[in-house]
Amino acid sequence: MAKLHLELTGVEMAFDTAKGPFIALDNVNLKIKKGEFVSLIGHSGCGKSTVLNIVAGLLQASKGGCVLDGHEVNSPGPERAVVFQNHALMPWLTVYENVELAVRQVFKKAMSRQERKEWILHNLELVNMAHAAGKRPG
Ligand SMILES: Nc1ncnc2c1ncn2[C@@H]1O[C@H](COP(=O)(O)OP(=O)(O)O)[C@@H](O)[C@H]1O
Ligand SMILES: [Mg+2]
Repeated sequence: MAKLHLELTGVEMAFDTAKGPFIALDNVNLKIKKGEFVSLIGHSGCGKSTVLNIVAGLLQASKGGCVLDGHEVNSPGPERAVVFQNHALMPWLTVYENVELAVRQVFKKAMSRQERKEWILHNLELVNMAHAAGKRPG
């Protein structure tokens, strides 16, 4: 039997709003094994993106926990990726600078400026975007 890969336990997400806390997720429990392919399906606003953002480490659950390969998730990391529904790009930054923003955040001081440059250009080449490195999204 495959090992447990990702586990959400009793996850609650309370967003602060002008009208007080809004409970978007209440006691969400999920177990995913290595190699499993899982779809979260539900109506708009039911909390799918909120779950993904917690797993991505972009949001912190207000209760409960998210454990990936035995480690608690509390920040983004290079072993997890999210493809957003919108472009999620800064229109005033170039393609290179947009990618750099994320690469800096994920690798912090673990990568030198030169390593970062090579990593960004390598990944832009992988998706045939290297020619646009100096262009803005628009
Ligand atoms: N930052 C936020 N502040 C307040 N409410 C939010 C915030 N983000 C999401 N919500 C609310 O939480 C609920 C779940 O949102 P979301 O996870 O984006 O749903 P889905 O991806 O399933 O459409 C929605 O009612 C949404 O309006
Ligand atoms: Mg969504």
